[in-house]
Amino acid sequence: MTDFSPLLASVLARHAPQQDALLPILHDLQDHLGFIPPETLTEIAQHLAISRAELEGVLAYYDHFRTTPPPHLTIALCQAEACRSRGAVALRQHVEQRLGCQLGQETAEVSLQSVYCLGLCASGPALEINHQQYAAVTPARFDALIQEEQSS
Ligand code: FES
Repeated sequence: MTDFSPLLASVLARHAPQQDALLPILHDLQDHLGFIPPETLTEIAQHLAISRAELEGVLAYYDHFRTTPPPHLTIALCQAEACRSRGAVALRQHVEQRLGCQLGQETAEVSLQSVYCLGLCASGPALEINHQQYAAVTPARFDALIQEEQSS
């Protein structure tokens, strides 16, 4: 079992024990670990003098936060209009078939989510693989990128 205490202590030390520090603390922790470990919740709540139930309510409200480790492969496909006009629909179909995962779903191996504009509109379709952005992604290029990612 992983001991998150040292990391949690350093995260809490960076944030004043005030209730408005809750979201920055959650972002800080998730940025480091990829998720908010449930075993850290009591200490976070104590640091901010809020109830654990309040903290769990905030976690449940924001889709961004997760309490389980993310899959090895996290993919975000741009589904905004500029990318759709440049092949994002066909790319989505290819990606779903290639990964055996529908957009908006997550398996043990991959999370496949939509995103609405990555700022690469002129060279769409665009996507992110593990937070790395790629533009002008064809189905063949996607396959090559996934092969690279899986062999690294
Ligand atoms: S619309 Fe896809 S990157 Fe902007």
